[in-house]
Amino acid sequence: MTTDISASLAQRLKTETHAQHERMHGLMEQGQPFADRTRYARFVAAQYLFQRDVEQLFADPAVRTAVPDLDSRGRSAVSLLDLHDLGATQPDDAIASQGVQMPAALGWLYVSEGSTLGAAFLFKEARAKLGLDETFGARNLAAYPEGRAQAWRRFLAALQESGLNEAEQAEVVQGAHAAYDRFGALLETHLLATQP
Ligand code: HEM
Repeated sequence: MTTDISASLAQRLKTETHAQHERMHGLMEQGQPFADRTRYARFVAAQYLFQRDVEQLFADPAVRTAVPDLDSRGRSAVSLLDLHDLGATQPDDAIASQGVQMPAALGWLYVSEGSTLGAAFLFKEARAKLGLDETFGARNLAAYPEGRAQAWRRFLAALQESGLNEAEQAEVVQGAHAAYDRFGALLETHLLATQP
């Protein structure tokens, strides 16, 4: 039954990418993005480039069919505004998601959308430690207008309704691994690399 298969896809994504999520915690711990606004801007650079990769997938009609509310998602534009607020330059890099298609695209979206949940904690830190908020500097960590939980539930519903078979689900998980790998590489390059 579709519901059961896809309910297990959400669970499978969570379980099978658990180590990757832990790795993100480790990288953030190492990178100390809230030590000062300069370090934080380096995190936002990684966020901007990752969001650009993810949003590149929004143009694909098959992805739009699977997740119909894509226009309300994505944070590259607000990340760019944050970089401007912080007086940081716009980073550039090749798009890493070139050629990614359904169903792997859903794995990239899973990582991006899931990261809005953890962003609640990061947002609080940005506000408390750096004085940033949803109008200045920390837009990329702010909740979607409808709220984090609601947007996440609708994304899970889209996963649930995708009705993917076993092989397709494995591709979604692979896509999630690739997306985590990309975000990890961006954190390493932009947040962890020695300050030029
Ligand atoms: C120190 C940084 C981070 C913290 C403290 C954090 C924390 C959290 C927390 C508490 C949740 C669960 C929220 C809930 O169930 O209500 C969560 C979920 C998630 N986070 Fe993070 N996170 C961090 C970084 C990241 C990064 C960098 C990414 C990816 C780019 C990411 C991707 C995800 C995903 C995909 C989920 C959904 C897991 C699921 O339920 O399937 N997180 N995070």
